[in-house]
Amino acid sequence: MKLLITGSGGMLAQDLIQQIQEEQWRYHAFTKRELDITEPESIAKHLLQIKPDVLVNCAAYTQVDQAENDEINAKRVNQEGAGHLAHFCREYQIKLVHLSTDFVFDGKQAEPYTESNRPNPTGIYGHTKRAGEEAILQQTTDAIIVRTSWLHGVGGKNFVKTMLRLAQKQPEIKVVDDQIGSPTWTVDLAQALIHLLKVGASGIIHFSNRGQCSWYEFAQKAIQIAHQQGILPQKTPVLSMPSSEYPTPAKRPAFSVLNCKKYTELTGQTPPHWQAGLAQMITQLSRDS
Ligand SMILES: NC(=O)c1ccc[n+]([C@@H]2O[C@H](COP(=O)([O-])OP(=O)(O)OC[C@H]3O[C@@H](n4cnc5c(N)ncnc54)[C@H](OP(=O)(O)O)[C@@H]3O)[C@@H](O)[C@H]2O)c1
Repeated sequence: MKLLITGSGGMLAQDLIQQIQEEQWRYHAFTKRELDITEPESIAKHLLQIKPDVLVNCAAYTQVDQAENDEINAKRVNQEGAGHLAHFCREYQIKLVHLSTDFVFDGKQAEPYTESNRPNPTGIYGHTKRAGEEAILQQTTDAIIVRTSWLHGVGGKNFVKTMLRLAQKQPEIKVVDDQIGSPTWTVDLAQALIHLLKVGASGIIHFSNRGQCSWYEFAQKAIQIAHQQGILPQKTPVLSMPSSEYPTPAKRPAFSVLNCKKYTELTGQTPPHWQAGLAQMITQLSRDS
């Protein structure tokens, strides 16, 4: 199996490359500078040169708040870029693996979202990611589109790293407690993508780490683990606040837990719990620092 990975400078891509190496699959990975998914000629050139069996698209416009004032660029990458990739993957018979998000949902549901629940994004980022899913589905039924949530990994900026940084320098931290989701470690997600490829899955599939929490509980757990592991000298107190006290340009879903039953049925794998993923991510962080 030969893979081509786009957006290789990103957080998920870095862990995916590590996992692919462990599988001993061949791969070619390209950063945005090397392969811009908004440029059809560049996509075609790389695909013809490398002739991969699988293209994993880790490239995306992921700045959720910035997207509110930058719709053109978010759309160019998340919608049009995804569409270009699907076009060439269909043309050259390459399996496409694409990532999408829990932010395609409005968060008004009280139970975990299944793949058949109706998307209704609340912000520009979510809209462009949903449009990217549609652009792919219009061209092929063979692609794997994995919706995931609240990613954290050592290779990128994320909530956990931010909380640990703030906990070093502030006497206390305030975090919103009225948005509920499932934190997901990028290594667990990378392994899930490999499992899905191995069973020849296709269509939209939800994957996140098991269990759910608020951002407040997520921060509390991260600080507790980092303190236990000795990388945070003090256990900085975390205080809860409502989202109304922390306005952001993009409106986020209040509840965006994904139901991952389809993933388990397809692969026979149960996603690891979010607290297990978090503990391993922090262990990796402390080893790298
Ligand atoms: N992070 C989350 O919490 C989260 C949650 C749910 C779903 N997801 C989805 O999961 C996937 C991976 O996310 P991530 O957190 O790993 O993202 P990330 O760290 O932001 O990585 C995305 C990468 O794509 C690159 N990129 C941007 N525009 C590009 C273009 N036109 N052509 C090629 N590369 C381009 C970026 O380069 P530059 O940095 O140089 O722009 C960056 O290296 C994305 O599809 C995202 O929407 C993420």
